[in-house]
Amino acid sequence: MKDHAGNTRYFEGTVEDITKRKKMEQQLKQSENLLKAAQSIAKVGGWEYDVQSKKVIWTDEVYRIYNVSESFDPNDIAKAIRFYAVEDRQKIEEAFTQAVEQHRPYDLELKFVSADRTRKWVRTIGRPLVKDGRVVKVVGNIADITDRKNAVEELNISTEKLRKNLIGTIQVISVMLETRDPYTGGHQKRVSSLARSIAQEMRLSKDTIDIIRIAGSIHDIGKMSVPAEILSKPTKLSDIEMSILKVHPRIGSDIIKVAELPDLLTEMVLQHHERIDGSGYPQGLKGKEILLEAQILAVADVVEAMASHRPYRPSLGVDAALAEIEKNQGIFYHPDVAEACLRLFRENRFKFE
Ligand SMILES: [Fe+2]
Repeated sequence: MKDHAGNTRYFEGTVEDITKRKKMEQQLKQSENLLKAAQSIAKVGGWEYDVQSKKVIWTDEVYRIYNVSESFDPNDIAKAIRFYAVEDRQKIEEAFTQAVEQHRPYDLELKFVSADRTRKWVRTIGRPLVKDGRVVKVVGNIADITDRKNAVEELNISTEKLRKNLIGTIQVISVMLETRDPYTGGHQKRVSSLARSIAQEMRLSKDTIDIIRIAGSIHDIGKMSVPAEILSKPTKLSDIEMSILKVHPRIGSDIIKVAELPDLLTEMVLQHHERIDGSGYPQGLKGKEILLEAQILAVADVVEAMASHRPYRPSLGVDAALAEIEKNQGIFYHPDVAEACLRLFRENRFKFE
């Protein structure tokens, strides 16, 4: 303040205690750093899209996942989407549009190629923020899940390898068992081959055809429980011997169940002697109660058995086998399966090796 002569007499001012504010700023900075570190460790980045201004904000980790410098403009959405693999671009575009227009959140795992051409897997989540019935923002995160995806893929490959090894082992045991009965040697291999051709003729899926082929090659494994004298008996079996033989589908399916192979395989082995009129064994199933796959195995089994030599008779020949299938088509055997089998032989597209 000055006096009337213009001389400074004293100063006036205010003093504010800003300790609290400074402390809060410090704490804010600390938690921001912590958040950054957490995102970097977890490889998760956050982003936000403002619907009205169309502005996009990314956290540092998003730039790292994209492997672009901070000069990259996240507002260029079209450019940002091009980092997704070609086959996944439509998915992310549709999900984002639906989030904005229909308030629908999304959670996708997609293939991604970062700026340095590194192939990655990302999980991208988007949540619309709604105010007064309108979406004002979409917020979300993007996580680099490449390590997890690779680990799962490796696990799947080794599980598949293990499963194949197990099937191979069962096939070896099954073929070994055939040696107890020299007359039926190679039976399972030939049934497997015919069953596969019938399944192909019926245009079943590749996976189904594959499992039918495997089931054919092991379907009689349960015969290990049947004494060799019964299997190679040159005369007709007595009722008791027949009842012993009839347990083999059940024993076979139990063995496959223990090996934890697919349920379809277990059921096919169990049902390969069922007939659609209910006259088969061991369960006396009828019509649709029997799996189509098992009915394919049944037809292939009958045709092969009749066309081959047996301890109690010489081969009846393929023609007699086909006549049996035709005669009982729709009675014992599924009409479509019988039809496909007859077509294969009559058009000379299948021959037993
Ligand atoms: Fe059998």
